[in-house]
Amino acid sequence: MTNTFYHDVLIIGSGAAGLTAALHLPEECSVAIISKGQINDGSTWWAQGGIAAVLDDDDTVERHVKDTLSAGAGLCHEDSVRFTVENSRPAIQWLIEQGVQFTRDENSDKYHLTQEGGHTHRRIIHSADATGKAVHSTLIDQVYARKNIEILTGHLAIDLVTQADAGSPKYRCTGAYVYSLATDKVDLFQAKAVILATGGASKVYLYTSNPDGCSGDGIAMAWRAGCRVANMEFNQFHPTCLFHPSAKTFLLTEALRGEGAKLVLGNGERFMEQFHPMAELAPRDVVARAIDHEMKRLGLDCVFLDISHKSPEFVQSHFPTVAAECLKYGIDITKQPIPVVPAAHYTCGGVVVDKHGRTDLDNLYAIGETSFTGLHGANRMASNSLLECIVFGIAAAKDVISKLGNIQAPEYQPEWDESRVTDSDEDVVISHNWDELRRFMWDYVGIVRTGKRLERANHRIKLLQKEIAEYYSNFKVSNDLIELRNLCDVAQLIIRSAMARKESRGLHFSLDFPNLKPFARDTILVPLNFAAQDVIVGRSEA
Ligand code: FAD
Ligand code: SIN
Repeated sequence: MTNTFYHDVLIIGSGAAGLTAALHLPEECSVAIISKGQINDGSTWWAQGGIAAVLDDDDTVERHVKDTLSAGAGLCHEDSVRFTVENSRPAIQWLIEQGVQFTRDENSDKYHLTQEGGHTHRRIIHSADATGKAVHSTLIDQVYARKNIEILTGHLAIDLVTQADAGSPKYRCTGAYVYSLATDKVDLFQAKAVILATGGASKVYLYTSNPDGCSGDGIAMAWRAGCRVANMEFNQFHPTCLFHPSAKTFLLTEALRGEGAKLVLGNGERFMEQFHPMAELAPRDVVARAIDHEMKRLGLDCVFLDISHKSPEFVQSHFPTVAAECLKYGIDITKQPIPVVPAAHYTCGGVVVDKHGRTDLDNLYAIGETSFTGLHGANRMASNSLLECIVFGIAAAKDVISKLGNIQAPEYQPEWDESRVTDSDEDVVISHNWDELRRFMWDYVGIVRTGKRLERANHRIKLLQKEIAEYYSNFKVSNDLIELRNLCDVAQLIIRSAMARKESRGLHFSLDFPNLKPFARDTILVPLNFAAQDVIVGRSEA
């Protein structure tokens, strides 16, 4: 028997995007926020550098728009960029009103603004080098204070539920099947509106700056439910993650370079000037590729990031988190260069949405890293993503409010069907396939691609998908199985998109097609069940 829970709005994901949307829904609206791990398990908590916004009197919306368009290599949707940037100041103002403590300038009463790659102006507001923690902890306090918001951690959404109303040809989203880690049972969460805020998919790669749960669940669920997905070939690799045999990947914020850190080889020689006039502050795709190039050319394990020319007081006050983490591995960043390598960092593509966060399915929204708003184009500019989470979180909530009164409560209540499955007898299949998938994605679909490598990856992903589909229909679900199934779906979307792009643009670089095509086009993948012509009634029948 499946337990059924009802709320007006179901928000899947408790990062910056999900919490922002929840806090913009009125108190009379019942809201459930589900999160598969702890409330702070997503990427938001780990954000370091800050949030890009037009805050300085000498900066302008036009300059921020221009920088974003330029980093996005011709693929940004200008209307979306403009919408986001125009809303940047009110978004930051809202965060300040919630109580976020941003770092102040030492010499004035203003906020300190730092700089990152692609920005031609200081416009990154931050809380030292732990901006995500400051923003997220504040929003978490706020949602816990709301009586209308129920927060359910350890709840993992498996698939979306859709229904067609009598006489209507259209399907709408009415909830999700959710696996509770505590009870080991699948429940049905019904709602008038569902907001996907599940973050990115960088866990599809072997080396990533992202926390473990970034398995692209929202993208995979929306795709399976009939929504279009766009530009998945543009996975961003952050140029500077700590390289140390015993360290789990740890990001070294781009703000280090914004404050003067240099990228050097083992002999102290700088190399970025040969690759871009902005040198260390070139857009991220350029810097990551330059590092990859130098590592391959010289057979290196890593390059180095050096800020030791700055005073120890400056370094400690601006980068306390980075300094403390590096010291754990015996690296004193005030005195020595830091070994770094690129790692998968951000999913620029995602579920296609409009300016209100609406997807192809009625009453289903997608916001934050899981969505494709057109803001990032072929390469996201640093610190534009938290901004996108806030701006689109607010926009989606407003749209939900305007519609809620006219949405019928869901009636259709399909049971989660477990009649034909048993407990898994070979968990090694899951762990093996996790490793295999992430390794071949790194080797074949990484920073530099070729047609042959993509074909190899495509061949392997088809085999894996088949194997996982069989496993999924025979055995009871578990956290790892659900994530692996999603990772496989997302990997396939990335490979298909990369194969479809016959040029090199932004983050997608192919040795077979090294040039830009004259016209920039999005890669939009359309599912076979587009416009939700199927009711998803349970995994064994889906
Ligand atoms: P997340 O914060 O990732 O939250 C996703 C949520 O969804 C989590 O609660 C997760 O548990 C939940 N979830 C996922 N799948 C399911 C499921 N199936 N069922 C239930 N719950 C689910 N961006 C910037 O703008 N500035 C920065 O300085 C910056 N620094 C960064 C540093 C690091 C190390 C990383 C990893 C990213 C950084 N980014 C930065 C990117 C930015 O942090 C993310 O893009 C942003 O936080 C994403 O927010 P989100 O709300 O979309 O998702
Ligand atoms: C960083 O601090 O370098 C990350 C910024 C971002 O990903 O936007």
